[in-house]
Amino acid sequence: MLSYTFTLLTLIASTSAFNVWPRQSNSCPSVWTDVSKELQGAFAGCGRDAHGAIRAPFHDCINNGCDGSLVLTDECSRPENAGLSGICTKLKDWSTKYSVSAADMIQFAAATAIAVCPLGPKVRALVGRKDSSNAAPVGLVPSSRDAVDKILAAFSAKGFSSDDVVALMGTHSVAVQVNDDPSQAGKSLDSTPSKYDTTFYKETKDGTAPYSLQSDKLLSNDTQTASTWSKFGDSQDAWAAKFTDAWNRFAVIGNDVGSLADCSSLIQSGSANKRSAMSMPMGARAYARYHS
Ligand SMILES: *[C@@H]1O[C@H](CO)[C@@H](O)[C@H](O)[C@H]1NC(C)=O
Repeated sequence: MLSYTFTLLTLIASTSAFNVWPRQSNSCPSVWTDVSKELQGAFAGCGRDAHGAIRAPFHDCINNGCDGSLVLTDECSRPENAGLSGICTKLKDWSTKYSVSAADMIQFAAATAIAVCPLGPKVRALVGRKDSSNAAPVGLVPSSRDAVDKILAAFSAKGFSSDDVVALMGTHSVAVQVNDDPSQAGKSLDSTPSKYDTTFYKETKDGTAPYSLQSDKLLSNDTQTASTWSKFGDSQDAWAAKFTDAWNRFAVIGNDVGSLADCSSLIQSGSANKRSAMSMPMGARAYARYHS
């Protein structure tokens, strides 16, 4: 218990340092150019692997920091991480293939997938995280069945505000549920699961999404989060700005940011994606293509 308390305090202390980004003095190791090529191919179309890659960082970082333990220990097979086993195996295999840390692979893959998904913002891609083979304690990953206060507390313990949490839930714009209700497996959390738009916020609030997690429904209507939820539903730009800020801090939880190298230039910018999003058919066809 004592050591756990200490870990949380350490994370809070390092979180407050995120406001000022240290200059990244290390240059991006060349191996990441090859990784980038492979991952862009793997995530093209913003389908299931892209969705999993965007989800994985939450499950690696929220408990004991971004340390690769999600894929290096038994964590990935736990019920709290249900649905991730396929992407966990791929992330681990890629980290082995390219001799990079699993913690970095999890984050670099997510940053790549976010940018590959049409309308996805460009987040920072820092590398140099240290792996840990110590599994996180069970039960620290917030669940879709949790109350709003419990979810906000889990993120607050890592230095994230309620607005940060609402912004980070935007990842559910590119999500299809399988394990939340197996009888409705394959239903997406908004009508455009292959597009990183903010219709997710609107449809969740209005009750028109194909499927909504209980936690998202509660967040969309809680006094602490409802106004920000609506604001993001009305503005892709407002959401993207807050999402990028929150994600960049989330992706380095538990790490010494000053020692990391910046590989952000390898993350494809969204302009080409924006054009393809405009010509992309809505919901149904994209859904059929990736989930049938
Ligand atoms: C939304 O919250 C209000 C109280 O703030 C409550 O009266 C209402 O029933 C809630 N609506 C839903 C759909 O949960």
